Amino acid sequence: MAELLQVTGLCKSYPAAGPWFRRRRAVAVDDVSLSVARGRTLGLVGESGSGKSTLGRCILGLTRPERGSVLFDGTEVQDLSGKARSEFRRRVQPVFQDPWGSLDPRWPVGRSVREALDCFGIGTPRDRAARVRDLFDRVGLDPALAHRRPDTLSGGQRQRVAIAAALASEPDLIIADEPVSALDMSVQAQILNLFMDLQSDLGVAAIFITHDLGVVEHVSDAVAVMYRGRLVETGDTDQVMGAPRHDYTRTLLAAIPRPRHLA
Ligand SMILES: Nc1ncnc2c1ncn2[C@@H]1O[C@H](COP(=O)(O)OP(=O)(O)OP(=O)(O)O)[C@@H](O)[C@H]1O
Ligand SMILES: [Mg+2]
Repeated sequence: MAELLQVTGLCKSYPAAGPWFRRRRAVAVDDVSLSVARGRTLGLVGESGSGKSTLGRCILGLTRPERGSVLFDGTEVQDLSGKARSEFRRRVQPVFQDPWGSLDPRWPVGRSVREALDCFGIGTPRDRAARVRDLFDRVGLDPALAHRRPDTLSGGQRQRVAIAAALASEPDLIIADEPVSALDMSVQAQILNLFMDLQSDLGVAAIFITHDLGVVEHVSDAVAVMYRGRLVETGDTDQVMGAPRHDYTRTLLAAIPRPRHLA
């Protein structure tokens, strides 16, 4: 069976700043190839500016790469239009570091989740209220919180709502870009546990983007390490964590903020 997502030779650059006679393009993603199988989680790791978000945006179809291909379920994402494009948008959902982006500050958070159901025509209008309650339950939130506005929730609760909104469309792939980076350590662990539950209960595949290799250790089946736009190492999580091949991966491992002997 073909991979759910197959990225091949992806390149993306931006106009670099500087005087016109020296102006070159800054390469953000440089010849990146990777794949994600159905129901699997890939951790995409690298320091700030290594091109992780740019790669994520190319996969989501939000940024157009200059070269390369993104095949989702066997179809080139860049060529999608009309119905096929909206079906892709239903099946591939982003979760960002800042959940405010997916929540309207004026609305009770339940309405934001309901909006996702309405938008993609999931379920009948009659049973959508029950679905919103189920989704709150699914992400470990008291459904009574659905009536609250986002500014009255904690950061962790808001991220749970954003995850519920992403799950509303019953996606096959979630692209989570630094989803726990803005949260306290203890809340980070809770959200990571939630991602692991979703993986085992719903079988949804994910790309989990983070600058912290320690974060993906438990969440991902495989790890891809990015450095200056290139993928320098990919492999099963155990292999990359246990026997890293690239010096840069070793640097990231050494930066994990906890005593290794407790791991
Ligand atoms: N819209 C843009 N215009 C110009 N340059 C950009 C743009 N977006 C990203 N870049 C540049 O591309 C490179 C990769 O950026 P990107 O945001 O993908 O990195 P990242 O790995 O996600 O970093 P971070 O961990 O800080 O989020 C950086 O040098 C960045 O300055
Ligand atoms: Mg980023």
